[in-house]
Amino acid sequence: MLRRLHHEQPESFAFTAANLAWAEGQITKYPEGRQASAVIPLLWRAQEQEGWLSKPAIEAIADMLGMAYIRVLEVASFYFMFQLQPVGSVAHIQICGTTSCMICGAEDLIAVCREKIADKPHQLSEDGKFSWEEVECLGSCTNAPMAQIGKDYYEDLTAEGFAKMIDEMAAGQVPVPGPQNGRYAAEPLSGLTSLTEYDSGKTKYNASVQLATDIGDSIKRIDGTEVPLSTPWLGKNATGTKATPPKAAETGKPANQQKKPAAKKAKADKAEAAAPAATGKPKKPRTMKAPRKAGADDLKQLKGVGPKLEQTLNELGFWHFDQIAKWGADEIAWVDDNLKFKGRIERDGWIEQAKILAEGGETTFSNKVKKGDVY
Ligand code: FES
Repeated sequence: MLRRLHHEQPESFAFTAANLAWAEGQITKYPEGRQASAVIPLLWRAQEQEGWLSKPAIEAIADMLGMAYIRVLEVASFYFMFQLQPVGSVAHIQICGTTSCMICGAEDLIAVCREKIADKPHQLSEDGKFSWEEVECLGSCTNAPMAQIGKDYYEDLTAEGFAKMIDEMAAGQVPVPGPQNGRYAAEPLSGLTSLTEYDSGKTKYNASVQLATDIGDSIKRIDGTEVPLSTPWLGKNATGTKATPPKAAETGKPANQQKKPAAKKAKADKAEAAAPAATGKPKKPRTMKAPRKAGADDLKQLKGVGPKLEQTLNELGFWHFDQIAKWGADEIAWVDDNLKFKGRIERDGWIEQAKILAEGGETTFSNKVKKGDVY
């Protein structure tokens, strides 16, 4: 199947404030120079927020990670889990069409989709509420036929029950995920023949369904407020309070080996304390209307600055390494606010890099850029 950007695109994309904080937290998981590793989680969160991945979303994520747009598009277009066209505002339905499901009635489910949603996959229903597609095995073959709707699996489906389920969703209800024929989980249809003493009724539903109903975000668009931001690797737990390092007795490690995580935590705390948000009042640095006669510096030689960010920096009045090298904490805070990527300057070490480059030196990254190894 040809996967390309949709012919109609929105003007812009922006993470919600909570999703942006989440995304920036994810980026800090990766070591210096490896921020691109966060590309899949960020694309996924953008899709969870919007339902699909637009060109502006792909570009915004590329900018956040200092990646070329084409590199992020390559990822988004490679994985079928990413939707490159608008999906139903209520739900996008993925019908498994592989062997077990096909034998057990997947084609009947697809017929329901054609009748109730749209004749072709990836087309929106007339009211814009639903879309559908056929997908490969989703690993729930024992409960065939099945469909993934939003985040959850609906199993042991019949055409009639599935059609009713779509009507319920259109009316604003969320049917309980899991087996739809009365089965608890994936036990034999005729009932258990062994392990019958096992108390499967500890929770009302099986573990997956119980979790799905407890969380309740099966078909919800995720705005980031659902689960508190948790960055334990920075010493913060989900409530934003400092996480307590595990005691030696809890980890089973001798006391001298406990120093390492403590040292790591101290380093993270130090980085956090140095972040612009924790310093003084933002102050606008000295800017220039145009580059000097000799021409602008190639700001892309700074790790974390891609073509889009370079353009933004130029628009703000920054053309040269020596301008950036002079920024103090207050200036960094101002630029951070204007770039809308808090923490990026500190995290990528722009000032240190700019000082070296302004003096005619080179960094490992600037060398790579000069050799054309960075796209
Ligand atoms: S064949 Fe449908 S889930 Fe495996």
